[in-house]
Amino acid sequence: MKTIAVFTSGGDAPGMNACLRAVVRTAAFNGIKVKGILNGYDGMIADNFIDMDASAVANIIHKGGTILKTARSKSFFTKAGQQKAKANLTKNKIDGVVVIGGDGSFKGALEFSKMCKIPFVGCPGTIDNDLVGTDYTIGYDTAINTVIDAVDKIRDTAESHGRVFFVEVMGRDAGLIALRSGLASGAEAILIPEIKTNINALIKKLKSGRKEKKSKIVIVSEHDDAGGAFKISEKIKLALPEIDIRVSVLGHIQRGGKPSCMDRVNASRMGYAAVQALLGGKKHTMIGIVNNKITFTPFAKAVKHLQQPHPDLVQMMEILS
Ligand code: F6P
Repeated sequence: MKTIAVFTSGGDAPGMNACLRAVVRTAAFNGIKVKGILNGYDGMIADNFIDMDASAVANIIHKGGTILKTARSKSFFTKAGQQKAKANLTKNKIDGVVVIGGDGSFKGALEFSKMCKIPFVGCPGTIDNDLVGTDYTIGYDTAINTVIDAVDKIRDTAESHGRVFFVEVMGRDAGLIALRSGLASGAEAILIPEIKTNINALIKKLKSGRKEKKSKIVIVSEHDDAGGAFKISEKIKLALPEIDIRVSVLGHIQRGGKPSCMDRVNASRMGYAAVQALLGGKKHTMIGIVNNKITFTPFAKAVKHLQQPHPDLVQMMEILS
């Protein structure tokens, strides 16, 4: 293994830069050249490769986003796109690739492996935490801390006005951001796609809550089966017109910001392990951390299932709210 490529792909996540830094510096330590690919798979197709040495990743460990930029590539899922990508990897003499991204990025790598034999190793970078084979994905910890910071602020104004707030958080099809941040911010209700939302039960809950506390927070995961925060709040307004309701959609604020300590350390461990894995002959595998140990999960398995919320957390949410 003389030269490896590294790129970030899909939705950015805080900690991607820390992971990239670890990949580049571990490779340099082992005498391997690194080429960074700009703009994810699109950059692979467009031959957007840059040389990266250890100093190219100085002062980035604390930065959100990704210095390599990212994209959700459509072209990479076409035969023509993949042929160009393969030709560019060959032209740049790439012996192995580290992809930092989420399930879409690993699905792309898996599809590509049918026509290109260059080994790919993945580091899970997504705020959603929705991959099998790791307790935490890079960016999840920062995102949930961003959410609780925002909800704490919303709680102040909700309390002053005696209002009920529906706060919508990201997570695509996974309710893990909603569940954990809802627990941490003491939300009165948490609606997640993994559990069917019962609007009547929610109405009852909002009606029968502690009398002295008029303000309430309902955390809604963006793809809840009953709809987003606006749609659900409309139903509640109709049933409980006496309640003063507001909606706050947190949106992309959840993807930005300085990575937390946990994300920086996990990302560094995963980036380091990814290079070791390539050197050890691994391919089409995602690096994870389970019970504080580095693990390897084939892409095919990592992308197949969503992490289900822990039943204890779900039961606890009901009792504590
Ligand atoms: O996968 C990360 C994520 O932030 C999801 O939580 C969200 O549904 C999606 O990306 C939004 O993607 P985009 O920024 O492309 O609109």
